[in-house]
Amino acid sequence: MTDILTPVLTKNWGDKKSWTLPAYERTGGYNALRKALTMTPDGVTTAVKDSGLRGRGGAGFPTGMKWSFVPKDNPNPKYLVVNGDESEPGTCKDIPLMLASPHTLVEGVIISSYAIGVHTAFIYIRGEVLHVVRRVQQAVAEAREAGYLGTDILGSGFDLEIIVHAGAGAYICGEETALLDSLEGRRGQPRLRPPFPAVAGLYASPTVINNVESIASVPSIIDRGTEWFGSMGTEKSKGFTIYSLSGHVANPGQFEAPLGITLRQLLELAGGVREGHQLKFFTPGGSSTPILTEEHLDLPLDYEGMAGAGSMLGTKALQIFDETTSVVRTTLRWVEFYKHESCGKCTPCREGTWWLVQMLRDFEAGTAKQGDIEKMLDLCDNIGGRSFCALADGAVACVTSAVKYFRSEFEAGYRTPAWELLPYELSARFSVPATTGAYV
Ligand SMILES: Cc1cc2nc3c(=O)[nH]c(=O)nc-3n(C[C@H](O)[C@H](O)[C@H](O)COP(=O)(O)O)c2cc1C
Ligand code: SF4
Repeated sequence: MTDILTPVLTKNWGDKKSWTLPAYERTGGYNALRKALTMTPDGVTTAVKDSGLRGRGGAGFPTGMKWSFVPKDNPNPKYLVVNGDESEPGTCKDIPLMLASPHTLVEGVIISSYAIGVHTAFIYIRGEVLHVVRRVQQAVAEAREAGYLGTDILGSGFDLEIIVHAGAGAYICGEETALLDSLEGRRGQPRLRPPFPAVAGLYASPTVINNVESIASVPSIIDRGTEWFGSMGTEKSKGFTIYSLSGHVANPGQFEAPLGITLRQLLELAGGVREGHQLKFFTPGGSSTPILTEEHLDLPLDYEGMAGAGSMLGTKALQIFDETTSVVRTTLRWVEFYKHESCGKCTPCREGTWWLVQMLRDFEAGTAKQGDIEKMLDLCDNIGGRSFCALADGAVACVTSAVKYFRSEFEAGYRTPAWELLPYELSARFSVPATTGAYV
């Protein structure tokens, strides 16, 4: 049994009332803030830079470097916006983090705001998770009451307010510039860049946007040091992170481990693929990352390892599918999601995802025609890289990678319905009524 879990962000999740201030303080909560306030703001930024922390929202951009892009001479107020929209299929780490330990995030927001020179920070949370919104609001209220927020925080002269904002349940509002439009009260659609948010973001003012896990990692870096953080992970992907395993695994859940752990090791920790079955394919980081297969089980799950295999680490949401799963059906479900969530701003994504769904429905029904695979790949070619934002790239990644590894299953879609080839009830994790239909 592999024993390489590194519980830092998840260490208090099992504690009694872990979400309350007294519980958080009992385990050293807000000590990092006290320490940070004795440092200079630039010192805090340098520590985060030196730690090698990379954004945990998907793209892996170095966090400290992002902070240092904020122009010091801009007279406008500066803002920190925490991205807690978390709506991608498979991605499920920020919501449990905010639910179990909202103070880790609140402390991270205060330290990060101090470093960047922010006096108003926003936490944007996916609106459907009302219980999480309430928990974070409660944590902010507790922190304010205790003097960790408001004016002259802990006698340091530093002032900060945090506003918790609930979104309305649109995946596109996780894209950072669409999120800013949404926060300003408009329909969430991505903005043209430049200008980049660091220069003109929220209310046209310098804005840093970071993922929940990125900001929640900051207190531990300040508390325990950059060397400690850098001692975990790989050369270019430092530290620990939360891997979320879902699907056909014995014990799905969150596994906090050093970057660079392999899926084989994670599966061992999760009790393996469900009994009597074998791995067929998986997403390394949510549905927008190209799928991989058994041959990639021993690759390091870090930014470089996944890029080397033609995929991405993304949000480290490992959705596991065993041999009973139809890759055609799975791809269709994902693309239906992207079609539904396309904001409609640009034609290749708005129209292209609709057409992809039509084509994939034919493959699922066994009514696709010879040449449709090539036509579908051509369609993908005209969507990915030709649209306004990365939602479109994510929408086609599952299609092109599914054809790359499982072309014969798409070829079977010229004759045989997917529900005959791989009946749905075989792949269901829990028992479902038998069906022969395409949509259940
Ligand atoms: C369609 C789409 C949805 C996204 N959803 C999220 C999300 O829910 N949470 C998140 O942190 N980043 C999301 N991102 C990435 C953000 O645009 C941004 O890169 C991230 O919040 C930056 O934080 P980080 O540097 O800490 O990783 C999304 C991107 C796209 C294109
Ligand atoms: S790629 Fe899709 S989601 Fe992104 S702006 Fe265009 S239509 Fe909207």
